[in-house]
Amino acid sequence: MDSALLSKTAAAMVAKGKGILAADESSGTCEKRFQSVKVECTEENRRAYRQLLFATPGVEQYLSGVILFDETARQKASDGTAFPQYLAKKGVIPGIKVDKGLADLPLAPQGEKVSEGLDGLAKRLDEYFKMGCRFAKWRSVITIGEGIPTHTCIYANAHVLARYAAACQAASIVPIIEPEVLLDGDHTAERSEEVHEATLRAVYAALAAYNVQLEYLILKTSMVVSGKENSRQAGVDEVAERTVRVLKRTVPAAQPGVVFLSGGQSDEAATAHLSAMAAMKNLPWPLTFSYSRALQNPALNTWRGQAANIGAAQQAFHHRAQMNSLACQGKWRPELEKQAA
Ligand code: 13P
Repeated sequence: MDSALLSKTAAAMVAKGKGILAADESSGTCEKRFQSVKVECTEENRRAYRQLLFATPGVEQYLSGVILFDETARQKASDGTAFPQYLAKKGVIPGIKVDKGLADLPLAPQGEKVSEGLDGLAKRLDEYFKMGCRFAKWRSVITIGEGIPTHTCIYANAHVLARYAAACQAASIVPIIEPEVLLDGDHTAERSEEVHEATLRAVYAALAAYNVQLEYLILKTSMVVSGKENSRQAGVDEVAERTVRVLKRTVPAAQPGVVFLSGGQSDEAATAHLSAMAAMKNLPWPLTFSYSRALQNPALNTWRGQAANIGAAQQAFHHRAQMNSLACQGKWRPELEKQAA
């Protein structure tokens, strides 16, 4: 474990004004996204789309890192450079998704999942390190519903996240732990806050049990929002207050930073929520973005698989990255969307 490298990587991941692009959609998720814009989900189209994003002129000033999917980490940019090296040359840290997706949690209510991928993980991490990846991501999912999440589900996911994090640190790779509390359902924001708190408490207890060093760890969390189907949607200030309250209660100040997923929020809501939180005084850690959809949606919708649209799609991506860069400094305002567009 190279502590100096871990420390340097973690600090760079949450550098001022920068956030992380999640471009680690599995081929299945990519298929769904591509279908929505009628693009065939071939290996070359996936490569071309990632190339479009990573080659966007100037976007590196807003991005500290990019999370890659295994396939992308082995693909090459148009200039023949492997994507991890291509990003590193731009000053963007390459990262890698290492969980192997979700499985049903046995003997738990229907719908409860646990993430898989611990078997052989140490070997895979060593290979990813050699390929140039300096951080990793593991996503677990907690669903809110009648009688769920159970303690069993929270406990199981907290433990896999902690074991993954320990394996990463041993391999000198900074772990991003992502316990995502889904916004699907009709629950209230208050219920979401309760579930976030229970989840994060369990995750940090498990991290301690597996000797994970908080100084070399990044939390990727969902925000405390109302369930998608709830008729009362919490406003920006309420989401910001509830989310920061939960984080302050559960996330030790020793941790270098917290990043957010967008989770199906609208692009602008994800930006507005982040800005409201980052503008708060006396936060113990920097807060920034690690969005997939809320950074990529306009680019994907503009591209539509057409080479002629690449420039416009890159502009759309640059715009969202710039807006979120302002947001992570608490400086985003709705009127900036129009000025810069
Ligand atoms: P979204 O921002 O689209 O939620 O994706 C983030 C992510 O990395 C999910 O694992």
